[in-house]
Amino acid sequence: MSENLEGKVILVSGAAGEMGRRCVKLLAAEKAKLGLVDLTEDVKMVAEDVLKEGGDAVSRSADICNEQEIRAFVNDVFEKFGRIDGVLNIAAIYRGLVNRDFGEIPAKEWGKVLDVNITGTWILTKEAAPFMKKQKAGSIVNISSATVFFGAPGMLHYVASKAAVLGMTKAMAQELGPYGIRVNCIAPGLLPTESSLERISDEYVGKIKATAALRKLASPDDIIETAKFFLSDASNSITGQTLIVDGGRVFL
Ligand SMILES: NC(=O)c1ccc[n+]([C@@H]2O[C@H](COP(=O)([O-])OP(=O)(O)OC[C@H]3O[C@@H](n4cnc5c(N)ncnc54)[C@H](O)[C@@H]3O)[C@@H](O)[C@H]2O)c1
Repeated sequence: MSENLEGKVILVSGAAGEMGRRCVKLLAAEKAKLGLVDLTEDVKMVAEDVLKEGGDAVSRSADICNEQEIRAFVNDVFEKFGRIDGVLNIAAIYRGLVNRDFGEIPAKEWGKVLDVNITGTWILTKEAAPFMKKQKAGSIVNISSATVFFGAPGMLHYVASKAAVLGMTKAMAQELGPYGIRVNCIAPGLLPTESSLERISDEYVGKIKATAALRKLASPDDIIETAKFFLSDASNSITGQTLIVDGGRVFL
């Protein structure tokens, strides 16, 4: 069983975010063919960078919750590459969330976080699944969060949305398994990304590191290497699973 992603066609949502960009770089270096989507126009530059390096990518700036746009995006990718082998659901609202008691979360923000983080994951996956069903193969990787396992305070909507992603992973794995399609989930701990470091103190980072068995934070590259494993044939018999990647802070 190979970890080789050469020639695999992989859709990446949130491709213009910090983890998304790094992920695109790694997947392109592995010679995967990429379909990239993000709300921001920057996704076009991310795709251009892939092309400059001799890789292959199609991109679209779209809201992951817009069914028509996402259907058009998936169709574009299929038209260009003729198959769809993987989906990596990274897009989420995390950056910019303010820590608040759950009673203080504005209803509009509550709805938006659940919409993007849950419905967006559903929409991209459901648009890609029919192509994978015809191929009788495919791998879907969802990004949850280790906050689900210890109930991080101050972001109830985010924690609720990422808990839903865990449940969706299992239910999707049940429904898609008979078609040879695998669905797995990664639950990252706190990562030293801009989106995290702009909202938490050095003191809190120190506390997190001190309580992790490996005395460190996981890095975005650790998450991407795990995603690579799930997207590749090396994880051929693994489905419905969630892997916590956090330096050993949460043990199941
Ligand atoms: N950074 C962390 O510490 C951490 C920890 C655990 C889990 N995660 C998860 O990892 C993933 C990436 O995190 P990140 O730190 O790179 O965040 P990020 O904010 O840099 O990336 C998220 C991307 O999603 C895109 N996006 C948001 N709403 C969208 C929409 N409606 N349609 C399309 N795209 C949309 C954003 O434009 C952005 O590019 C997220 O799922 C996040 O919840 C992050």
